[in-house]
Amino acid sequence: MKIEPFKLERYFAKYEFSTKYLISSSDCDGYSLDYILGCADKEELELWNNLKFGYTDSAGSEFLRKSIAAQYSSIKTDEILVMSPGEANFILMNVLLEPGDEVVCMAPAYQSLYQVAKSLGAKINWWKFDKTTGAYDSAALRDIVTQKTKLLIVNFPHNPTGFIPGREELDKIIEIARENNVIILSDEMYHQLVHNEADNIPPMCDLYENAVSLWGMAKSFGLAGLRFGWLASHRKDLLEKIAAFKDYLSICNNAAGEVLSFIALNHKEKFINPNIEKIIRNKKLFSEFAIRHSELVEFIRPKAGSTAFVKLKIETPALDYCEELVKQTGIMMVPSEMFEYGDSHVRIGFGRENFGEALLVWEKYIKQE
Ligand SMILES: Cc1ncc(COP(=O)(O)O)c(C=O)c1O
Repeated sequence: MKIEPFKLERYFAKYEFSTKYLISSSDCDGYSLDYILGCADKEELELWNNLKFGYTDSAGSEFLRKSIAAQYSSIKTDEILVMSPGEANFILMNVLLEPGDEVVCMAPAYQSLYQVAKSLGAKINWWKFDKTTGAYDSAALRDIVTQKTKLLIVNFPHNPTGFIPGREELDKIIEIARENNVIILSDEMYHQLVHNEADNIPPMCDLYENAVSLWGMAKSFGLAGLRFGWLASHRKDLLEKIAAFKDYLSICNNAAGEVLSFIALNHKEKFINPNIEKIIRNKKLFSEFAIRHSELVEFIRPKAGSTAFVKLKIETPALDYCEELVKQTGIMMVPSEMFEYGDSHVRIGFGRENFGEALLVWEKYIKQE
């Protein structure tokens, strides 16, 4: 299979480790090994200290799948497959899709969510957000999903808009999928990163028998470097096919990452809560910035996730603005061209400690322009 470059990742590759301010990242600052082990109890530390680097259970070690299953209300350990999120997405599309299949995906979206499907010959129909409210409306989805649709790809909380549906809207989305016998891939990489607890929604796999939920360590837990994630679903037939495909890729998961993910899951609040606090703090700073610079940015405040999709109210294409900004100030922002979604938005990421400092530098740049 030939595949187009992943624009967003290629753009990050250019700047992520050479520039001072990342104000577009979707992950939060990574926690240290010291921090993770500091959260561990005696038994977890023993597991870490006695860790052996042989092959691990391809599906994910039993102790880890038990902790993962505890995150769901209806999922059992044999309904979970552990692997990196990118691998999970890649394999799922490969075992599910044939050329000519119809797929519905949110737009904009994290590119791998639709690019793998596209490269396999699937036709993508887009579910776009409402420009004034920033919301993805289930009524609009009803017109896009048909009996011909094989797969619906959703991502709540959404990267990049930070959109999360209310519980009623979520049920309507499931109803649409059920009526048309459509499988849902629910990318929940930002699950539980809600700015107000009341906005939390359940994982799709607990609500819909034909859904596959994806969650992992990178975003909610602030442990992107572990490269850990998992699929959870009642569709064991699909999981079996995915497990068989995985033998041609990573085969199994890295032993150290399994124990560290296990510790993080067992002490979830110590990882997720500080991230939410940081996101809320930085979102407030950006709201104030957006008021001071309403000539430049139009900001719809997200309720969830770690990012926002912010409109630039200028003639210059977003890519050109971002390139000039990074050159002049060391502030890296992702332009909407990297999402293949026009040229007038940027993604803002609220997960970095030096966000406030970066805004001051950006502000100085705006005044000098
Ligand atoms: C919506 C979404 N899905 C999946 C991923 C991939 O996660 P990971 O970095 O753990 O592979 C990302 C990363 O940015 C994402 O934003």
